Amino acid sequence: MLGSPDAGDDNPRNILNVVHAARSNVIARRALLSAAAVLTAAFVVWGGLTPLAALIGLVALLVWSAFWPLLSSSSVMAQYEAQLKAAEAVRAAGARIWTRIVSNLPDPAIVLDAEGTILSFNPAALDVFSGCAAGRHISQVTRAPELLTAVSEAIVTQDVQSCRLDFKVPVDRSLVGTVAPLMLTESEPLDPHLLIVLRDLTEQDRLVRMRADFVANASHELRTPLASLKGFVETLQDAAKEDPDARDRFLKIMLQQAERMARLIDDLLSLSRIEMHAHVVPRERVDIGAIITHVAQTLATIADDKQVTLDTQSIPEANVSGDRDELIQVFQNLIENAIKYGRKGGRVVVSGRLVATPDANNKKLIIEIIDDGPGIAPEHLPRLTERFYRVNAAQSRNVGGTGLGLAIVKHVLNRHQADLQVDSTLGQGSTFRVTLPVRRN
Ligand SMILES: Nc1ncnc2c1ncn2[C@@H]1O[C@H](COP(=O)(O)OP(=O)(O)OP(=O)(O)O)[C@@H](O)[C@H]1O
Ligand SMILES: [Mg+2]
Repeated sequence: MLGSPDAGDDNPRNILNVVHAARSNVIARRALLSAAAVLTAAFVVWGGLTPLAALIGLVALLVWSAFWPLLSSSSVMAQYEAQLKAAEAVRAAGARIWTRIVSNLPDPAIVLDAEGTILSFNPAALDVFSGCAAGRHISQVTRAPELLTAVSEAIVTQDVQSCRLDFKVPVDRSLVGTVAPLMLTESEPLDPHLLIVLRDLTEQDRLVRMRADFVANASHELRTPLASLKGFVETLQDAAKEDPDARDRFLKIMLQQAERMARLIDDLLSLSRIEMHAHVVPRERVDIGAIITHVAQTLATIADDKQVTLDTQSIPEANVSGDRDELIQVFQNLIENAIKYGRKGGRVVVSGRLVATPDANNKKLIIEIIDDGPGIAPEHLPRLTERFYRVNAAQSRNVGGTGLGLAIVKHVLNRHQADLQVDSTLGQGSTFRVTLPVRRN
């Protein structure tokens, strides 16, 4: 008998089983009818039936084959169609759920059917594979052999596969891909079958590289003065032992080297301290004008040595919420840089102005430190705030620089929700612009 599907059972797997059973039953009956017709024809040909009996038999067979399947199975066939529609609806709902899940994932994600055709994907996946579209085969979207192999292996083994993808274009990018079967082993070919999730490792790799570079740079910066100290100690113990002039000269250099090491360690400690408090917004009320006056006084000797005129007249009165010592460090480094790397006998102007924020509810204080020195070539500008980055390493070392000043400035300003911009024209000078939110009370 043809099985009667249970319309109340909404489990998609049961619906599909019943539908398949119904379909097989109908196919079996049709095969039976065809076999009976062939047998009857064979009997007639063989002569085992009189033509009249065969004619009656054939008419009866025709009538039976024409009406019986219809009569006996039409209601079941109708149910079969209904269940098929229900199963399709359930499958479409499943696909919609997957689309929703995938579109809410932050990482690039793609759902494939058992053939490797894309069923759904999220916008992040489009960033990686611009040709992503439902209905396209994954191999039309990427040629990355690692990913295509992982997809075919996941289909065959039904095990999670992972792979690493390194793209050079349009930008350098490293990703790790996980291809996971969705545990629908009895699924229809068009069901969601595989989930590909990609994780971008570019930023993580960059941080690992940065950390390694940082340790290498810091060791190098410390090793140089240390080697020089060691050399002078050996010379003093040996050749210069009895030479008071050489001893005095060497001791002076040794003191400079020791001071350089101390400065480097102070800068490293201050950078790590600022990083530790990066997410704590400073609350102290700080008068920026007073800070700049204080910094200008402490730098007066350096400015005099270089015959630089330091003009700090036009700073409007404004308080910001901040950490006074950290803001002193910011302006100390920026003004000292302008003097150190500016023109001998030149002029450094520190000016300020208040501007309203775009919503006109708050104010911002803009402080500019302008020098008329040789300026900075455009290719250096984006890297100036990197640790140990110097435009001219030898010049910076000669003036006692560690290359950490602007990295500290950037971190302090980030913590103060402030901003640093640098404009520079070769041969004309540089402008370092700090924008700070003004405190309301
Ligand atoms: N006003 C400026 N004009 C030209 N070059 C500048 C100026 N300010 C900074 N630079 C360049 O940027 C580099 C980085 O500056 P930064 O303040 O980070 O380090 P530094 O001054 O060398 O060392 P530190 O500040 O730790 O003593 C400097 O080495 C210098 O080459
Ligand atoms: Mg500096």
